[in-house]
Amino acid sequence: MAKIIGGITTSHIPAIGIAMERGLENSDYWRDFFAGYPPLREWLNEQQPDIAIVFYNDHGLEMFLDKKPTFAIGCAPRYENADEGWGIATIPPVTGETELSWHIVNELVENDFDPTVCQDIKVDHGLTVPLSLMYPGHQYQHLKVIPVCINCERHPMPKPSRCFALGQAIGRAVASFAGEQKVVVFGTGGLSHQLDGERAGFINADFDNDCMDKLVSDPQALTQYSNDDLIEIAGAQGVELNMWIAMRGCLLGKVTEAQRNYVAPISNTGAGMQLLLND
Ligand code: DHB
Ligand code: FE
Repeated sequence: MAKIIGGITTSHIPAIGIAMERGLENSDYWRDFFAGYPPLREWLNEQQPDIAIVFYNDHGLEMFLDKKPTFAIGCAPRYENADEGWGIATIPPVTGETELSWHIVNELVENDFDPTVCQDIKVDHGLTVPLSLMYPGHQYQHLKVIPVCINCERHPMPKPSRCFALGQAIGRAVASFAGEQKVVVFGTGGLSHQLDGERAGFINADFDNDCMDKLVSDPQALTQYSNDDLIEIAGAQGVELNMWIAMRGCLLGKVTEAQRNYVAPISNTGAGMQLLLND
């Protein structure tokens, strides 16, 4: 059966992609942030996962406020990105894993989740920046990708508890997929940030660090928050924590933390990163 070997969380701040393009990783501003990533890349290189399930949010490239699926899943043979209107370079397309995508869709619907099924979808920085971080030079090797999109932009948004349950259902679906594939799960976005309004620039580093602790040993505690709580405690875009919570839901084994990094602020965000092993 396919096996989820671990989970990776990372912020997906667009400026990260721009810093990589411009070769600024060792500059004073970026050094501490990028220092977290080599161990993750080494782990991926050692493990050679076949498939990455990526929980991300679409910030308006494909799903604007007028059409907002609560949960959406890609079933496409490949995924391209596009200019989001603010000058982020496009990256080479990634290959989709259609068989497992469809298996997950079927299992989700059977288990009372009803995602929007996307056979043609562009992916935005929520997916591309983390992939660029994990596979510098866009050398994805044989990796195939399954995008899972969670609404974090438009009320009503799915609750943290529901995102965790979605992750658990996807974790069970992967475990029932015939094959020997190694699967890694990404949760992108977060941690605390607010990009506009009176509290623009708001960051809560104590909360961010507490979230990373809980993500390892007590993820259920994170499911007690409402989205209104998250907005209050972690800023309007702090709701992107829901992707981390969904990722953690997929890890149904014994979870240990192998790596962690946190730098704040990076751009407007508390930039967190974790590697969780799933035995
Ligand atoms: C920033 C963070 C995000 O999560 C995002 O989607 C866009 C911008 C930022 O901090 O600049
Ligand atoms: Fe974001």
